[in-house]
Amino acid sequence: MTPASISLLTTQDGTHTLFSEQYGVTYHSRFGAITESKHVFIDAGLRYKAVMDRRISILEAGFGTGLNALLTYIEAEKRGLEVKYTALERYPLGMDQIKSLNYTELLGYDSINTVFCQMHESEWGTPQAFSTSFLFEKRLESLEAFREESSYDLIYFDAFAPQAQPELWQASVFSSLFDSLRPEGVLVTYCAQGAFKRTLKQVGFKVEALKGPPGKREMTRAWK
Ligand SMILES: C[S@@+](CC[C@H](N)C(=O)[O-])C[C@H]1O[C@@H](n2cnc3c(N)ncnc32)[C@H](O)[C@@H]1O
Repeated sequence: MTPASISLLTTQDGTHTLFSEQYGVTYHSRFGAITESKHVFIDAGLRYKAVMDRRISILEAGFGTGLNALLTYIEAEKRGLEVKYTALERYPLGMDQIKSLNYTELLGYDSINTVFCQMHESEWGTPQAFSTSFLFEKRLESLEAFREESSYDLIYFDAFAPQAQPELWQASVFSSLFDSLRPEGVLVTYCAQGAFKRTLKQVGFKVEALKGPPGKREMTRAWK
């Protein structure tokens, strides 16, 4: 993707998202980027897991703008969680696109702007500690090729929608993700399509439908 094929939009909660012309989709819900990320990934994922464990290893499929990573950092610091965060990305955004986003300004902490920039400027494939309890690594790696055994407690599945990238919603991908989870591991995503939930069940997940963020009736949480 070239930078020219990405444009900036403001969503209904006032937070920015990006539109990918190549895939014909936005990076977040048009009803609110931060609202959606908090609802799906932080509330239904991180907070849910944090009730059971203070040490959480997270895999994100689709690093994108880094919004989920940033919100996770803020939540982890607030709750004293120990987080190891690994994000996969195939088509990284440019720093000019990242700097145009209003996340750190609207979240209202000066200090997190530094962390947000560090997340984007860090070396691919090199873990970096942003605090004594937050270890971050982004990998320039395709989700289809991802293989790791029993390493994660929580997966943020944040690929573009099935209509835009059907290859990322195939059983083979979810089978690898299932293998990468530890026992009792959880996957959360904004998607609630029937075919997708059947795929999750087919590869071994137990599937739960939860109330979705604004503009979506449901979202999905699945366990190993
Ligand atoms: C919905 S956006 C992710 C939004 C992101 N989580 C955020 O907080 O901004 C989907 C992301 O998946 C990435 N992507 C597309 N194809 C991919 C692939 N084959 N493997 C890994 N990531 C991919 C896109 O470049 C994009 O950044």
